[in-house]
This record gives sequence, C-alpha cells and structure tokens, in this order.
Amino acid sequence: MAYINTKLENGAIWYDTDGNIIHAHGGHMLFRNGFYYWYGENRTNGNYVGCYRSSDLMNWEFRNNVLTINSQNQPIRIRTDLSLKNEKNSNGKINLERPKVLFNEKTNKYVLWAHYENGTDYSCAACAIATCDTPDGDFIYHGSFNPFGYMSRDCTLYQDCSGMAYFISAARDNADLHVYRLTEDYMNAECLVHKLWQGEYREAPAVFRREDKYYMFSSYCTGWAPNQGKYAASDGMENRWSILLNIGDETTYRTQPAFFLTVSGTKTTSYIYVSDRWDGKDYNNSRYVFLPVNFDETGEPAMNYCENFAIDVSTGEFRILC
Ligand code: DGJ
Repeated sequence: MAYINTKLENGAIWYDTDGNIIHAHGGHMLFRNGFYYWYGENRTNGNYVGCYRSSDLMNWEFRNNVLTINSQNQPIRIRTDLSLKNEKNSNGKINLERPKVLFNEKTNKYVLWAHYENGTDYSCAACAIATCDTPDGDFIYHGSFNPFGYMSRDCTLYQDCSGMAYFISAARDNADLHVYRLTEDYMNAECLVHKLWQGEYREAPAVFRREDKYYMFSSYCTGWAPNQGKYAASDGMENRWSILLNIGDETTYRTQPAFFLTVSGTKTTSYIYVSDRWDGKDYNNSRYVFLPVNFDETGEPAMNYCENFAIDVSTGEFRILC
C-alpha cells in the first residue's frame, strides 16, 4: 500500500513510502539532483545511518542504510580508529550520532561526519568520517579521531556558498563549542577558527544563512531532556558571533535542533527548524518536529509551535494546517 502524506503532524510517528517507521534521528538533509536526501541515526539492528529521499519533503522513500556495522573501511591517515564494532556491548555496536553529509564539488564525493562513541558511554568524544560516490550508496568508513586532539561530541557541518565547509562540535566535556574550517576535500579539520561561548555547555548546533546573516541554534546540555534553545548570529562563519539569546519556549517545544532546511520557491523562502523530540527511555520511539522560523525587520528570529503542516517545494511555503 502506498502512503501519501498531504500533511505531517509534529511529534507523531512518521512512515516512509513503504510504511516503515522513519529512523533519521539527529539528522541532516542534502539537496542533490532534484531530491532532498535525509540522513540520520538508525539504531535498529546492525544499522548506524539511514538515508531517505523525497522530491516534495512530505513523502520519504527509504534508500539505504549507508553506514552499518559491516561497512567497508579504508584508512586515510594514521591515528584514526577504523572499528565499527565493540564486542564488549551486547549488540556488538559502537554509536554514531548526529551524522551530517555534504557534497564536495572538487572530489565529487559525498562526505559524512558524525559523533563517535564506544556504545557504552561518552568517553571517546571523537568525530568520524565516511565517503561515498553517490548520495545513497554504501559509504566507506574512514575512522574516528579527535580533531587536533580535542574532545568532539555533538556536531554539525555547514557549507558556505563559496564551497568552504565547517565542522562545529562540542569540546572540553561540552563546555565550549569549536568551529573548524575543513580542508578542501572535507576530509580533515584544517584550522580551529573559534572556541565559542566558553563554559556555556552548548549541544546540538545547527547553522543556516539568511541574506547576509548566519544563525546558529543550539541547546543546553541536559542528556535526552529538552531545554531552552538559544541562537546567535554572525556576519560570517569565521567572524565574531553574538551572545546567546533565547528562542522558542523553555523546552524549545520539547525539541533539540538537528539541522535547518532552506526551501526557496516562487513565492517565498522558508527557513525550517528540523528537530528531534527524543524519547530518552525508548530511543527508537523518538520523533521529529519541523517548525518555521520567522524574522522581524532587524533579522531577529522567532519560532512558535504548530501541530500540523505541509511544505510546498514549488512556492517555498511552509503551511501551518489545523
Ligand atoms: C544530547 C545529544 O544532543 C544527543 O545527540 C545525545 O548525545 C544525548 N545527549 C545523549 O544523552
């Protein structure tokens, strides 16, 4: 039976076009050749990262589990740990959290970065990378490492219009948020350009650009429990960032940021906050919440809750429904 969504309900279980539950937690989207690819954590069975695609942002076709416990590996340099298994855990798995994928125009590769842990606790605090020639093929794992020796937990990627890309991750036991400029091939951190908000314990960073301003949303560090979201703004990824200001309500509507989706159409451009509503007791029961971000004339963002919505990719509208 084909499932066709004309509306989506925030916080409900969402199904792919085969009728299976969508597992793309802590995820990211990439637009390529007419399709939005949605990557995210899939912790079922031997899977790590699932990939779905859609041309309308409403109906999602499952494509592949692009990283699994059996993914092929290929070393790229010394001091990377290539293991995707941990025999000490009953399921034999490690953890890959918050996977993000960019396309590199110079190498023609899809490059994935994620947060790596040993599957038992959060002591590794490393990042991990993988690549593929296609958006939804079997990614090749290149291992985990600590960028410039730093701890690296919750993370995101951001690609500027120039092609310059950045990896942003929580360091020093989450106290500081680091911004690394990536090398041209996106396979390594080239330079640490910022240590942001020292001692503020920011998690779940997510970046977007609107006109000439860059915005970074993030949460505070409270495990799986939601908290007051905050944002900051800047004129450039390597320029000075503002202080942190509140966004949404005291639990950010029971969500934590995953990434931003920009949809430009004939009528408008929508900036969509895509987030996780985690179920800390039953991880696989975690849900998704998509909300539009509105801006006042000075560029200050605001976000309200809505229950049901539809996205129109041709007009660019995010429609709030009853
Ligand atoms: C909050 C992070 O944002 C999640 O990705 C996950 O690491 C949980 N903490 C684990 O408690």
